Amino acid sequence: MSSELMNRYPRVADLRHRARQRIPYFAWEYLDSGTGVDQCMQRNEEALAAITLDPQFMKGVFTPDLTTKLFGVPYAAPFGMSPVGLTALMWPRAEQILARTAAKHRLPYTLSTAATESPETIGPLTDGMGWFQLYPPRNVEIRRDLLQRASAEGFTTLLVTADVPAAGRRERQVRAGVRVPPRITPLMLWRCLLRPAWSWATLVAGSPRFRGLEKYVDGQDMQDMFSFLGTELGGSLDWEYLQGVRQEWDGPLVLKGVLDPAEAERAVAIGCDGIMVSNHGGRQFDGAPATITVLPHIVEAIGNRATILFDSGVRGGLDIARALALGADFVLLGRAFMYGVAALGRAGGDHVAEILKTDLENNMTQLGCGTLAELRQRRVRR
Ligand SMILES: Cc1cc2nc3c(=O)[nH]c(=O)nc-3n(C[C@H](O)[C@H](O)[C@H](O)COP(=O)(O)O)c2cc1C
Repeated sequence: MSSELMNRYPRVADLRHRARQRIPYFAWEYLDSGTGVDQCMQRNEEALAAITLDPQFMKGVFTPDLTTKLFGVPYAAPFGMSPVGLTALMWPRAEQILARTAAKHRLPYTLSTAATESPETIGPLTDGMGWFQLYPPRNVEIRRDLLQRASAEGFTTLLVTADVPAAGRRERQVRAGVRVPPRITPLMLWRCLLRPAWSWATLVAGSPRFRGLEKYVDGQDMQDMFSFLGTELGGSLDWEYLQGVRQEWDGPLVLKGVLDPAEAERAVAIGCDGIMVSNHGGRQFDGAPATITVLPHIVEAIGNRATILFDSGVRGGLDIARALALGADFVLLGRAFMYGVAALGRAGGDHVAEILKTDLENNMTQLGCGTLAELRQRRVRR
């Protein structure tokens, strides 16, 4: 079965194409869009594509070793899944699918604060591979409770998202009618009818809910939830707040969405264990630099004082190799895993993990790198 899937969908780009045919227009635009005119999203991919690595040959027979350790936890490969919110809009129970992929492939899965499943449901499925992402609640009691719940459910690592000072405009989503709360119109229903597999799966699973946040919201309808998201989870992050999080979270702490070396240094100084170089996949600020362009500057500023994570624009094993060669310790992917789930449902997460592993392994072989340490020393040209 898996080789049949590999023959039909050998690249993430093939899954992206299939996903577009399989989910309604508004769900597709929610998943695929950046912000503005998508320049940052394109810049991420183009800047990665412009990086070449010098191969070396004459190594005889070898199989590259992809295994690595991050914050003391062994992983099967140096990549994992970035947090994605409102996940069930793109495919029902997507978090459960991806949490199972994480456990099976021994890769980290990050559950978003804005996920459609709760930490209590997802934590046990990850078998120690779960990380949790925090959109900082203004109310510190809610923050404390969320962190306690994540920790109690076995999520090992906390990502605090810095790069959402306000919601992005996401014009493609506006045009497609992605509204919060959703407005059911005849056009929307028609678009659902055109995508029967998604519609059936969504009918069976029920419409998306922010299950992890429901206990903090007065009232049960979506309107109450969205006013909570707007007022409670917006724009509260500053250095003092991050210090508060540091005091409340015992495990590894990563600041996600850093593009400025001085901010990276400050985060390390107040106790962050990791810096995640990310521009939210181009969904927040269309004028942001490509993350791969910024990565070497952050690596230079931080040295080995903290772990460097990387995302935004990664679509295959070669992109992962490029980021590692430029100094990242670990690479995450947001859309790629969701394209897989939207395209293939339950088989999608595993298939993306397999594409990425096979592709990274093959590219390391082409480069003549038997280990990730060798890859990190390979000559890069821009
Ligand atoms: C549909 C979608 C929803 C996202 N939701 C969140 C979220 O809830 N929290 C967060 O920190 N980042 C979120 N992100 C950003 C991702 O974590 C990640 O940084 C980004 O997707 C990386 O770029 P890539 O999609 O090109 O891999 C989201 C991204 C997408 C595409």
